[in-house]
Amino acid sequence: MGVVEAAFKDMKNYIAFGTRDAANLRALAAHVRPHLPAVVARFFREIQRHPRTRGVLREGPEQVQRLREALTEWLESLCCGQYDTEYCRQHAQIGRVHARVGLPQHFMFTAMEVVWQELSQAVRQADLPDADAKLRALHKLLTLETGIMLESYRESYAAEIRQFERNAVRERLTQAEQLAQIGHLAASLAHEIKNPLAGISGAIQVIRDGMDLEDQWRPILEEVLRQTNRLDGTVKDLLVYARPRPPRFQRCKLNRLVERVLTVLRREPDLQRVRVEYINSQQLPLYGDEAQIEQLVMNLLHNAAHASPDDGLVRVLTTSNADGLRLVVEDQGQGMDQETCQRAFEPFFTTKARGTGLGLPICRKIVGAHGGTISIRSAVGQGTTVTVRLPRYPPATSGGSDDDHSRTDR
Ligand code: HEM
Ligand SMILES: Nc1ncnc2c1ncn2[C@@H]1O[C@H](COP(=O)(O)OP(=O)(O)OP(=O)(O)O)[C@@H](O)[C@H]1O
Ligand SMILES: [Mg+2]
Repeated sequence: MGVVEAAFKDMKNYIAFGTRDAANLRALAAHVRPHLPAVVARFFREIQRHPRTRGVLREGPEQVQRLREALTEWLESLCCGQYDTEYCRQHAQIGRVHARVGLPQHFMFTAMEVVWQELSQAVRQADLPDADAKLRALHKLLTLETGIMLESYRESYAAEIRQFERNAVRERLTQAEQLAQIGHLAASLAHEIKNPLAGISGAIQVIRDGMDLEDQWRPILEEVLRQTNRLDGTVKDLLVYARPRPPRFQRCKLNRLVERVLTVLRREPDLQRVRVEYINSQQLPLYGDEAQIEQLVMNLLHNAAHASPDDGLVRVLTTSNADGLRLVVEDQGQGMDQETCQRAFEPFFTTKARGTGLGLPICRKIVGAHGGTISIRSAVGQGTTVTVRLPRYPPATSGGSDDDHSRTDR
């Protein structure tokens, strides 16, 4: 027995629908039949009245005719006296068809009310003996019919949701596969580019160093060098992202690493535009990969500086508590809208003309490999706060082997 049939049986018990009701309904058949065309006519008038129901009948006159016949057949079956599983199974089909044509289930209540008004009036006019009991039986049956419909609607909606979820999972899987492929491609491409690039850069330096300080071509060579360096940075980012090396955990101090990064970055023009403030009062020991943590801090500081206006304040804060360490990079820059914030960790997502969109994905990989978390809070026009939490000790799963590392990445 299906779900709908089981519910039908339950409902019948609950409202005590029995053989006497069946007999009463059968006794109505002959009296009701002459009224059915009028009931159907009223039914269609009601459908025409509301744009939502009118819109469901979009296939034209043939569909209207089909519905007219189906409805007449259904009305006739109401007084057939056979309210068994087979009856329920046939009627359960209606809700499924309605769900398919996009008729919202709440219209069933109003439609059923119209049927009740018309049929009960016909019964009253017939002036039958024991009319009350017959009306009660009819009312019970229409309640059961509503129940069957809602149950079969529910079944259809559930199937739709399951299908939707299956599709979503499939889509995510293909997306993940595509990203992995892009990653591989990017890594091999980066390898191919790295060496010739170093050659070009070296050759240009040789030419430049042999030139007069006043040489008119010198500024152009300087510019070529700057661009090659930028390209080299991008290629390195790509490699780090696509082929991360497992962290080499060692005892270090988070505050020292931040200070070291700041010393280097303060020399960069991008960072000289802003005021960087580092607030820390303690030594913050940690087992981590120094180079990776430095890269993390550097990426976050670059983002904060890029988002800040001239002379804007960028604050770095490190603290510790029982759970581990916290690193906060906070700016008062342009901030992000909700969509940007949601997509910020996507590889290759960038809003910058010269961005690669790998800064934050790399940060997340590094933090993940250290067993920590990274989160962003941002408001447009007010600024952004990135919070990184790191455990003091390496995560149990990251023994440092390649296997363990790739698990952390997924
Ligand atoms: C008491 C309420 C209703 C009953 C008992 C009922 C009954 C039926 C039945 C028996 C079918 C045929 C199912 C099948 O093919 O197996 C059907 C289909 C359909 N019903 Fe209803 N219906 C009701 C309300 C409505 C309402 C309010 C609309 C609004 C437009 C509607 C629109 C349709 C449509 C579009 C079809 C599909 C017709 C086709 O393309 O063949 N129904 N309905
Ligand atoms: N502090 C910030 N303020 C405002 N927007 C930010 C901030 N940090 C990141 N974003 C947004 O998130 C996007 C992705 O950042 P991410 O660091 O991954 O890449 P990117 O900075 O664009 O490029 P790059 O690879 O050079 O770092 C940025 O393009 C920017 O739109
Ligand atoms: Mg960045």
